[in-house]
Amino acid sequence: MKEVTASAPGKLMLFGDHAVVYGHPCIVTAVDQRITATVRKNGVDIFHLDAPDMGLSAYSRTLADLGKKGTPKAVCFIEHLYKRFLEKHPQQEGIVVTTRSDFSSQFGFGSSSAVTVAFAKALTTLYGVELTNHELFTLCYQAVIDVQGIGSGFDIAAAIWGGTLYYVAPAKTVNPLGGERFELPLAVGYTGIKADTPTLVRMVETQYQAEPERVGSIFADIHQIVDDAQQAIVAQDWQKVGQLMTKNQELLQQLNVSGVQLDELIQASVDSGSYGAKLSGAGGGDCMIAVAEPDRQKIESALEAAGGQVMHVKLHAEGVRIES
Ligand code: PMV
Repeated sequence: MKEVTASAPGKLMLFGDHAVVYGHPCIVTAVDQRITATVRKNGVDIFHLDAPDMGLSAYSRTLADLGKKGTPKAVCFIEHLYKRFLEKHPQQEGIVVTTRSDFSSQFGFGSSSAVTVAFAKALTTLYGVELTNHELFTLCYQAVIDVQGIGSGFDIAAAIWGGTLYYVAPAKTVNPLGGERFELPLAVGYTGIKADTPTLVRMVETQYQAEPERVGSIFADIHQIVDDAQQAIVAQDWQKVGQLMTKNQELLQQLNVSGVQLDELIQASVDSGSYGAKLSGAGGGDCMIAVAEPDRQKIESALEAAGGQVMHVKLHAEGVRIES
């Protein structure tokens, strides 16, 4: 095999944000904005990467230097994963990696998880290493923890399995919800603000340490919402799904992770009739989601009027796949 190309989808957290870091479940859906990685061997002991969509061209390192200080953020995940792979499957020659993205990393659709998974799939396929989804998860999650030190891996799971998942970290439970052609009637609004996930996760961690009872009880309430939402999603009871989103949002506000723009977009969607809405992910910015029922057009116009950018994305997308 000379060259392998794989692609993986982005993600949107539907329920359970933050609580999932502490062993509670979440619900995540894959977004059909994909990242593609192409990998080939290059005959020399050098790792070479071209990732123009991440602002990086002609980056290279010797295999001995992989993972050493000074790695640009855009390549961290790929480089650490490659290093881990070589520890298990030593090679004399390096690789050339090229990535391409359907979406800008600023929207918070999970570009780092998608690129990590697409690269891992292409790399292991190139070397004939067959991994189950869970083994692929372990390889990718390890790289995320190496780089970020924290995270539930829900985004890695969405990129691997695709569809809509009820997830408990780290891939202890991965329950696909809905069938293959399942439709989630959601509107997605981008705030225009890039959120920094690790900072927000650490902020919640600090609160949890300072007030374990208050924050622990918020997490327990979120857990219940996620379990109820799982049933409501399967039953396609969008009114109930919306009510649960609004409840989840109130709890996220109590964790102080919402923000002015998020709150404005959420309010605008509810005022225009949406059954319910919440932030998606760490908070602070990035995207919010609203049930796009009963009137999608009215809800999306309201989001735009409130200064949001409506993202027309296909949800419940296919997981990682080999393209060629
Ligand atoms: O900001 P995002 O979309 O990457 O989502 C972060 C979700 C958290 O629950 C806050 C963190 C995590 O790792 O699950």
